[in-house]
Amino acid sequence: MRSWQQIKGDFPFFNESGKSLTFLDNAATTQKPKKVIDAIVDYYTRWNSNVHRGIYRLSEEATDHYEKARENIAGFIGSRDPRQLAFVRNATEALNLLAYSLGHGLQQGDEVLLTIMEHHSNIVPWQFLQEKGVKVKFADINPDGTLNMEDFQSKLTKKTRIVSATHCSNLLGTVNDAREMGKLAHDNGSIFILDAAQSVPHMPVDVHMLDCDFMAFSGHKMLGPMGIGGLYGKYELLNGLPPFNGGGEMIREVYTDHSTYADAPEKFEAGTPNVEGAVGLSAAVDYLKVIGMENVREHEKDLISYTFRKEEESGIVMLKSYGPKNPEIRGGIYTFNLGEISPMSLNDNLKNSDISIGSSIHPHDVASGLDMDDVAVRAGHHCAMPLTHRLNVVATSRASYYIYNFREDIDKLFESLERIRRLYA
Ligand SMILES: Cc1ncc(COP(=O)(O)O)c(C=O)c1O
Repeated sequence: MRSWQQIKGDFPFFNESGKSLTFLDNAATTQKPKKVIDAIVDYYTRWNSNVHRGIYRLSEEATDHYEKARENIAGFIGSRDPRQLAFVRNATEALNLLAYSLGHGLQQGDEVLLTIMEHHSNIVPWQFLQEKGVKVKFADINPDGTLNMEDFQSKLTKKTRIVSATHCSNLLGTVNDAREMGKLAHDNGSIFILDAAQSVPHMPVDVHMLDCDFMAFSGHKMLGPMGIGGLYGKYELLNGLPPFNGGGEMIREVYTDHSTYADAPEKFEAGTPNVEGAVGLSAAVDYLKVIGMENVREHEKDLISYTFRKEEESGIVMLKSYGPKNPEIRGGIYTFNLGEISPMSLNDNLKNSDISIGSSIHPHDVASGLDMDDVAVRAGHHCAMPLTHRLNVVATSRASYYIYNFREDIDKLFESLERIRRLYA
């Protein structure tokens, strides 16, 4: 395998953008290797035309690129049947599609079980169903930020029709035991959906091994372009769902009074698809396959272990981090605060403001301070407000790693944090 330094050399952003940035916001989106950028340029240079529609050769070639991409990406997540993968814009769209389409079959009193560590994209679409009397429940966490499995099991009832849970929390970094959750859901007769937005990019994920019924992920978080993502579904289940969007591509026949629909995955791909996105994501998958997802996972385990060692050694007095410290159940996500940023520590006027007071430094100030040292992290609620409230904090800062980050980046993070702490002391 090539060195991680050599791998970083594949990313024009780090070599040609003129910016010398320690980029630690990979849970939000990742930089792109040249191979991905080249694949997109090549597609537009040589193959561009609309897919599935033309009889002429160029259109057939474009269709071929699109369908080969589907096959490649489906294989990457362990699917043996490309028809199990529908292209969507992102994980958010996949989860909205599922809530909408599965929602047709739900009735008043039915329950959907989520976890308190979900991203908004796996909360809000289910809340839309509350209008028809569906109850949305949340399994709690333990004090260490792992999922409370007793609470999960106690909330899994005869009424639970769907369990939808994140594989890896984008805030706590907790890697959930998806296989166990899926087994419990299935034993209960519930559908099991996995939000794999933070796992597919970072670890080997095999839909057969996990036995999830549906799975959502985003291309831009795994070196691919924005605007492309995947919805995996066991074929019978996926094909049995009613469509989400109507239009071209997704139909079999259209009459003035009714229409019939194509089979999955076309049924869920109304309109001209993002062919460039599919081709770019397929190139990203090829790139990751060469590195090996086991190696990606090991690299990130090393980085998160190093982070917790650094946290202890640095002795930064106000530093408080969240989530489990065991790298076996932790992704490459480090979420922290400088001081107790609990709502109780702030008066009402300051709760949602950006002002740092007393012995706490607001995460927005922390992130701005880090930015002055060219370290890019995210600060806020990370689209996980229920979890942020559960942690009794107003916000947090988050450093998230990927294949082009090294221990030196973490050294830089901690040096900068100490500088910021001194500034506010
Ligand atoms: C766990 C999780 N689920 C879903 C999403 C939504 O991803 P996207 O914005 O690409 O749809 C994110 C994005 O950060 C996430 O971290």
